[in-house]
Amino acid sequence: MKRLEGKVAIVTGGGAGIGEAICKKFAQEGAKVVVAGFPEDPVEDVAKEIQEAGNTAIAFTGDLSLEANAKSCVDLAVKQYGKLDILINNAGVFPETNLVTDYTEEAFDYMFKNNCKTTFAMSKAALPELQKTKGNIVTAGSEAGVLGIPQNTPYGGTKAFNIAFTKGIAAEQAQFGVRANIVGPGPIDTTWTHKETGPMDAEMEKMNTQANLVGRRGTPEEVANVYLFLASDEASFVTGSHYMVDGGITIAKGPMGGKADDSMKEQPEGNLDLKHAKDGHTTIRESA
Ligand SMILES: NC(=O)c1ccc[n+]([C@@H]2O[C@H](COP(=O)([O-])OP(=O)(O)OC[C@H]3O[C@@H](n4cnc5c(N)ncnc54)[C@H](O)[C@@H]3O)[C@@H](O)[C@H]2O)c1
Repeated sequence: MKRLEGKVAIVTGGGAGIGEAICKKFAQEGAKVVVAGFPEDPVEDVAKEIQEAGNTAIAFTGDLSLEANAKSCVDLAVKQYGKLDILINNAGVFPETNLVTDYTEEAFDYMFKNNCKTTFAMSKAALPELQKTKGNIVTAGSEAGVLGIPQNTPYGGTKAFNIAFTKGIAAEQAQFGVRANIVGPGPIDTTWTHKETGPMDAEMEKMNTQANLVGRRGTPEEVANVYLFLASDEASFVTGSHYMVDGGITIAKGPMGGKADDSMKEQPEGNLDLKHAKDGHTTIRESA
């Protein structure tokens, strides 16, 4: 028996990075998946790749921070697959690193809209359907949402919103049979944590791997594995939790990465065929 057999899931930000891995992992485990993202994201490709592997997926494109689009996305899941069991609030942006004194208003507004309002709009649209199926929500938190990280302060604030918001849903929606949890990635191997493709400078990039106990970036699939557990019925007694997938970065003291055993330092291959780990984006888009 597959772990999500018969379930219907929406994954926001499903076209790239961690989202692609969640979509493919869930589909492999029997879920019917709505791969949702901006029109510029390769969501159609991910849905097609899932179908070609013999599993079930459909794409939805739109700015999911807008309530009308969020509702259309949920409507598509219900129209296509008859119900909704799981909402994964994975969509997010990371356009700038800067001291608070230099942080641009434009980047702040862009992050608040895409990181926080998307989680709100999608949760609001999905909850009536999740109440019917006794389903659940899993939202992307972050190490930055629980630690104070220099030059990541506004970003960390948006993630702290998502953590508190999702815990609130857990507390509020249990009366309707809905669970809600948070996954807190540490530095993951997507565009965001490489100086060539994201807003981190060389020093921040180096700190990512030095400051965690495993001494490397996590893979999108390693994060997807935890989403899978939390979204599945195996986690029936887990609600309101923030599960860290961070190589221990939130408990490490000092540059511990170099001390990790070699067996930990190599990224596991995993079993997903991922093609879009580096197709995410870190710049401000006019359309969004
Ligand atoms: N990569 C990391 O190191 C890391 C660390 C901690 C937390 N996270 C969290 O994990 C999540 C995924 O990160 P990633 O590195 O895979 O990013 P990514 O850029 O590879 O993928 C995120 C996707 O979300 C989409 N998106 C953003 N706002 C949207 C909106 N309003 N409507 C539709 N689509 C939208 C983007 O276009 C992008 O395709 C984010 O929420 C992020 O905060 C990532």
